[in-house]
Amino acid sequence: MKRWLKLNSQANSLNRAQRLSDKAYALAAEARQLVADRNRAFTDEESDWWVRGLPRLHDEISREIETAKVLPHAYFHGYPYQALAIAGVFGERPTEERFESYGLAQYISAGDEVIDLGCNCGFLLLYTSFRTGCRGLGIDHDKVSIRVGNHVADFLRLSDRVELRHQRIQEFQADRRYSRVFSMATHWTDDAGYRVDLRAHLEMLHRVCEPEGLVFFESHAADMGNSEFLQTMDECGDIFSVIDVKCVERETRYFYVLASH
Ligand SMILES: C[S@@+](CC[C@H](N)C(=O)[O-])C[C@H]1O[C@@H](n2cnc3c(N)ncnc32)[C@H](O)[C@@H]1O
Repeated sequence: MKRWLKLNSQANSLNRAQRLSDKAYALAAEARQLVADRNRAFTDEESDWWVRGLPRLHDEISREIETAKVLPHAYFHGYPYQALAIAGVFGERPTEERFESYGLAQYISAGDEVIDLGCNCGFLLLYTSFRTGCRGLGIDHDKVSIRVGNHVADFLRLSDRVELRHQRIQEFQADRRYSRVFSMATHWTDDAGYRVDLRAHLEMLHRVCEPEGLVFFESHAADMGNSEFLQTMDECGDIFSVIDVKCVERETRYFYVLASH
């Protein structure tokens, strides 16, 4: 009962935060509209689309989330697991901060083809493409997250570079190899959609990655200090070299950069 009350109160504060945030973006869009009207001699429908388009994007996302509330949806009280500040999208994990703390800008460039397995809304992939110009494919078994991601991809005008697809990792048949592979917090998921032996997961990542390509692998919080997890990672030297390993998100997860042999 206590846990239910706590979850309910968290969901209520998120609802309130989301409503406040929607209002703030509606006001920002209205303000830009006033400026556009003031400058109408040299503005058109396209002017300030980045700000003026946000309320419509947020309406589209709210509609998807309303649908999610009647579906089993384990992550972040029915809100997206991922947040994306540049599009004003609410969520638990801040994409821009993750991009910076993982140092992705130094490893990924416009010529790269990135696959993101269990991409959620695909925000990390979209933002990586936005920042670096890379192309990518993200897959996730959660339809609503993929639909939210595709609205954002259209909004950011990235749909020609990034494909977000509703698909289970278990059913993904790579018809090619990728120069960069994301496996972020997906080898033992809370929603129980994908729970596999870690070594088998690393071997799958190795098959998907080009030789000498890079795999970015983020652990789950439960892996911290887990000797079995650390031993498996220590023993993956036959397929990967560890380029970097660090603790991220206030020491709650490991983040590895692995070079494929
Ligand atoms: C903890 S979240 C991590 C999301 C994202 N990789 C990130 O780090 O922001 C786990 C994700 O795995 C997805 N997932 C779970 N089982 C899956 C499966 N069998 N195939 C594809 N995606 C799956 C969930 O829908 C969820 O988006």
